[in-house]
Amino acid sequence: IETSESSTKRVLLLKPRGFCAGVVRAIDIVQIALDTFGAPIYVRKEIVHNSYVVNDLAKKGAIFVNELDEVPEGARVIYSAHGVSPAVREAAKGRGLKVIDATCPLVTKVHVEAIKFAKQGYSLVLVGHRDHEEVEGTQGEAPDVTQVVSTVEEVEALVVPDPDKVAYLTQTTLSLSEAGIMIDALKKKFPNIAGPKSQDICYATENRQTAVKNVAHGADLVLVVGSANSSNSNRLVEVSKNLDTNSYLIDSADAIDPVWLEGVKTVAVTAGASAPEVLVSEVVEYLQAKGFGSVDEVEVMPENVRFGLPPEIVQAIASAP
Ligand code: F3S
Repeated sequence: IETSESSTKRVLLLKPRGFCAGVVRAIDIVQIALDTFGAPIYVRKEIVHNSYVVNDLAKKGAIFVNELDEVPEGARVIYSAHGVSPAVREAAKGRGLKVIDATCPLVTKVHVEAIKFAKQGYSLVLVGHRDHEEVEGTQGEAPDVTQVVSTVEEVEALVVPDPDKVAYLTQTTLSLSEAGIMIDALKKKFPNIAGPKSQDICYATENRQTAVKNVAHGADLVLVVGSANSSNSNRLVEVSKNLDTNSYLIDSADAIDPVWLEGVKTVAVTAGASAPEVLVSEVVEYLQAKGFGSVDEVEVMPENVRFGLPPEIVQAIASAP
């Protein structure tokens, strides 16, 4: 009896995947600013960590810069979804820039916590990756009292003025299990440590990781669509690998090495919070062309979060002709 190989090879398309509410909002802000004020609009850093999104907005007239001294005095600049430190806000004022803030409200939540704890005299421990823009921004709220840690060894080596007056915060896009290990280590070292009222890891990070956890054991391979500098995308690959399911981070279908598919029957596909759906569709089309005949969407949980636009943009829309 001849069986068609394609009938046994399948794709599981995870849901939720891709854009979170903070990314949708940030991209909308740049788009609306371009439509309302016209190009050029300056954007400090990548608006979200995805090369396709950045290139697309650059084609439409957004100019991405690393620092504000690259923005002409008095020009309009957008802060990325990852947030900025008070030092950046001051620099913008100094240059007379017109600022539009696309910081994700869930990043702002962590900034507010940092300010509150610092005012109350706490030493702050920020769990996260020190070279990530979000961490730079959050640490900048209270740089003199904030230490960034990313390993248990770093937790054990922490020195603070008063071990009973320590609070921790985390980056929004960490692995839930890794963050749990770090927080346990912090609680062991500082039994009276304070923390955020609700976890700093955001709903989108948690939901995408939960979807991978639910499906990875039934897949031979997990492909995560996302850019190399996207924190939450990298964590999705780690979650899968920790469950012993092979996984790769791919910017697009072009990055797939056909060797990865050898002997693979079930591929689970997901996308980080900054990866657009068009790239996911191209990956699915590529897999279909390689004989993965059935495509099933697996919805692990519903997700309906939306964030409002910042006042600068609401006003711009209202006063547009
Ligand atoms: Fe915000 Fe989380 Fe997205 S912090 S930008 S909702 S990944």
